[in-house]
Amino acid sequence: MLDRLETIRTEALEALEAAQKKGREAIEELRVKVTGRKGELTSILKSIGTLPSDQRPLVGQLANKYKKEIESAIKKALESLEESGGSVCISGFDPTLPGRRLPSGTLHPVTKVMDEICAIFNRMGFSVAQGPEIELDFYNFEALNIPPDHPARDMQDTFYIDEKVLLRTHTSPIQIRTMEKIQPPLRIIAPGKVYRCDSDVTHTPMFHQVEGLMVDTNVSFADLKGILTHFIHEIFSSGTGVRFRPSFFPFTEPSAEVDIQCVICGGNGCRVCSQTGWLEVLGAGLVHPAVFRHVGYDTEKYSGFAFGLGIERITMLKYGIDDLRLFFDNDIRFLTQFK
Ligand code: FA5
Repeated sequence: MLDRLETIRTEALEALEAAQKKGREAIEELRVKVTGRKGELTSILKSIGTLPSDQRPLVGQLANKYKKEIESAIKKALESLEESGGSVCISGFDPTLPGRRLPSGTLHPVTKVMDEICAIFNRMGFSVAQGPEIELDFYNFEALNIPPDHPARDMQDTFYIDEKVLLRTHTSPIQIRTMEKIQPPLRIIAPGKVYRCDSDVTHTPMFHQVEGLMVDTNVSFADLKGILTHFIHEIFSSGTGVRFRPSFFPFTEPSAEVDIQCVICGGNGCRVCSQTGWLEVLGAGLVHPAVFRHVGYDTEKYSGFAFGLGIERITMLKYGIDDLRLFFDNDIRFLTQFK
């Protein structure tokens, strides 16, 4: 009988611990089972009269002691449940408490602007094309009318992997890869990472460009001007002044650099625009016939334009950011401003 009492006590205290995690009802159920009117301990106390007389005092004493101990443990468990407002704690997890929201991340400002640029050109019928970041010298230079030893190779400081393989210095090789696969008419934009051995406040070794290419019959410089002006008015604001300045790229002829009225000072002249009132945002031009010949396009039948812009540059102007390196610091205080 003494062993039986010991087992009832141990099991009751263990069961109480488990019941406490389930809640008030489970504790009450346990109370009824052990110390209730028909409970295990109560039955033993009731049956003491049937035991041999020498066992009665010891069994009675122990049964009463354990009953009090279990009743007091049950009372304590109910009180602590009361204090926690009835909420149940399962291994330190309280399912009745309101959940904590996980902090949501944001798109990087460069990604946001890249998406916006793609959306603007998508609306004008341009689809997105892609190409490899590890590129052949042929696509990055030769097919773009920049043969070996051409001085224009110095315009872009290249990371070479070996003599024929390099990290692309611009997104223009995607023009060639696309024209090799598709016959005109075509309109594509190609966003992506590019690499140059270049690092200061306004230049980083990796940055993003978007290339644009349109080829069809009768594509003229007027089409180039119209589409790029519309793009600038969409990405900045409709009143932004735009000017086309003669320039040189081996793969376009004629070539131009496109400036916008300084978005910081409104064209009055400031530190950002070096007091000129204008900021260069992209390079463009009509596709050079030598490039068309590389991909087997009929230069008598087709003409086209191409352009390339630096996405970080556009993002800086759009959000008034004056240091390019902020984009690559991964400082959460900077990045959360673009929610
Ligand atoms: C080119 O890369 C030409 N492929 C663009 C082009 C395409 C011209 C098609 C004509 C037809 P450029 O080297 O100027 O051009 O670079 C274009 C833009 O990339 C620049 O206007 C500038 O905004 C950005 N850029 C250039 N170097 C860096 C750099 N190191 N860090 C950040 N942005 C850069």
